[in-house]
Amino acid sequence: MKIVPVDPEIRARPSFQALRRAWPEIVFHDAISNANWGRLYGERPEFQFALVEDGEVRAEGNSIPVAGMPDTWREALGTGFDAAKPDRLCALAILVDPDHQRRGLSRLMLEHMRGLGRERGWELVAPVRPSLKHLYPLTPIERYAEWRREDGLLFDPWLRAHERLGAEILGIAQDSLVSEGSVPQFEQWCGLELPESGSYVVPGALVLVEIDRERDRGVYREPNVWMRHAFPGSAGGDN
Ligand SMILES: CC(C)(COP(=O)(O)OP(=O)(O)OC[C@H]1O[C@@H](n2cnc3c(N)ncnc32)[C@H](O)[C@@H]1OP(=O)(O)O)[C@@H](O)C(=O)NCCC(=O)NCCS
Repeated sequence: MKIVPVDPEIRARPSFQALRRAWPEIVFHDAISNANWGRLYGERPEFQFALVEDGEVRAEGNSIPVAGMPDTWREALGTGFDAAKPDRLCALAILVDPDHQRRGLSRLMLEHMRGLGRERGWELVAPVRPSLKHLYPLTPIERYAEWRREDGLLFDPWLRAHERLGAEILGIAQDSLVSEGSVPQFEQWCGLELPESGSYVVPGALVLVEIDRERDRGVYREPNVWMRHAFPGSAGGDN
């Protein structure tokens, strides 16, 4: 098992392409993300990495240096390329192949990402997508992010994984990813018919999807939880 840069050869592998199925379709329609995601590999290659095992890509990690604290995931992706003097690293994604989840691979990926910041004297900030929030779409993210188990650890596994490595919760990023489209597009992305205007529970979505049939618009505004991994001597603290 080894961690390698996401070069064109890695990106061409079927196992790399297949990682994408770990995401619900609804997250693929943020305009800022779609305009900028591909730039990560060409313009910030040292912050994109993949875990390879037995010749297969098992996981991908993405991050971008930023200057100051972004408000949202999409803002980091939108403005990070303009940061002349970055002072921290912003996590963008860690994606583990669905057939290899629950093996502890996410920890290897997160530790590597922490190292990319630490070795430059930067803290790592992460707009975390809580991995079980989609099962609780009616619960406000502010409350969900604070749920703890009887053993005192955070309820959500992915928030817990960050906290276990030393991260602290900074707050909520509202509208961190925003997918917008027509009603027929949303019906396709959600795999549901959406016969009237209103709010809908959609599999994989962390919050309700809003549909306005009169305007033929749908919108999905995904919140994230900001977490910070600080290191001795790292910048930050001015969020
Ligand atoms: C979130 C994700 C990266 C976790 O990766 P992973 O390698 O499966 O996670 P690990 O095996 O390291 O487990 C981490 C914790 O999550 C728990 N966990 C993992 N999958 C779980 C599931 N389906 N249900 C409940 N707990 C789960 C593990 O038990 C572990 O918790 P614990 O050690 O405190 O008990 C992975 O599920 C994923 O890629 N999801 C889709 C993309 C995504 O949402 N990424 C995160 C946002 S960027």
